[in-house]
Amino acid sequence: GRVIVLYGGNSAEREVSLVSGAAVLAALQRGGVDARGYDLAAGGLSGLEALAPDRVFIALHGRGGEDGTVQGALELLGVPYTGSGVLASALGMDKQRTKQLWRAVGLPTPESITLGPDSDWDAVVTQLGLPLIVKPVHEGSTLGISIVHDRQALEAAFGEAARFDAAVMAERYIQGDEYTVSLLGDRTLPAIRVEVPGGFYDYQAKYHSDATRYHLPCGLNEADERTLGALCRDAFRAIGGRGWGRVDVMRDARGRFWLLEVNTVPGMTDHSLVPQSAAHAGIDFDDLVLRILDTALE
Ligand code: DAL
Ligand code: MG
Repeated sequence: GRVIVLYGGNSAEREVSLVSGAAVLAALQRGGVDARGYDLAAGGLSGLEALAPDRVFIALHGRGGEDGTVQGALELLGVPYTGSGVLASALGMDKQRTKQLWRAVGLPTPESITLGPDSDWDAVVTQLGLPLIVKPVHEGSTLGISIVHDRQALEAAFGEAARFDAAVMAERYIQGDEYTVSLLGDRTLPAIRVEVPGGFYDYQAKYHSDATRYHLPCGLNEADERTLGALCRDAFRAIGGRGWGRVDVMRDARGRFWLLEVNTVPGMTDHSLVPQSAAHAGIDFDDLVLRILDTALE
């Protein structure tokens, strides 16, 4: 039967989703799957229903696609879809609640505070120290995120994040190395260490820069990589994640891992991390896409 690749939509990550969706669609078609793309922003849900899909590959990033809303609509339509269900998708999109849940089950994640226009900025700095990170609670691809180095910059960073989201948080900054672990079904794929020379792994570094370095193998010893993989699997399970996903982690100078966030529809562009990690495990892009599609029926 027919597979519809859902992409585009209206989120701030629309452009990333268009690239992910086109790559996924091309891979399915090369694999002989009867697949078609559908931009949710162009056609809405009724247009999707009219196509009578047998399965949907969700390649939407951000709100209105990765956050449980589309998953809920597909549940109501009775159409199987790739990736996490309603609850895990909604939780994964909410960085603060994800962290609260991790803390509740004893998983390590940096301390964080919800910010508002009336926040006591001095108290925030006293509690989290400097530098600290300010982020929109429901956003992806590092949009709206700032590293704040001094107290004076905090309010402006809040304003920048608030352009993207009504909910904003501040998080303790972990000085160290950044890792990401991709999950495929029950498997943990090889960890990647991301290095941005002299910088920050922001939107530019994620999708446009050729300077970003992806260390694969990641350079950890076997025991540490196993620890990291198990931590990320636990983190994904804690939110009830299913099918595939990616967990982003910092490792501090003492070698402790700190969970940052879960992505329930990770990027599938040629700069993206899941395809690189899968390739290192011997799973090429086309095979990866077919395996993700298979998870729609589990
Ligand atoms: N939010 C982007 C697409 C990612 O996590 O890869
Ligand atoms: Mg993210």
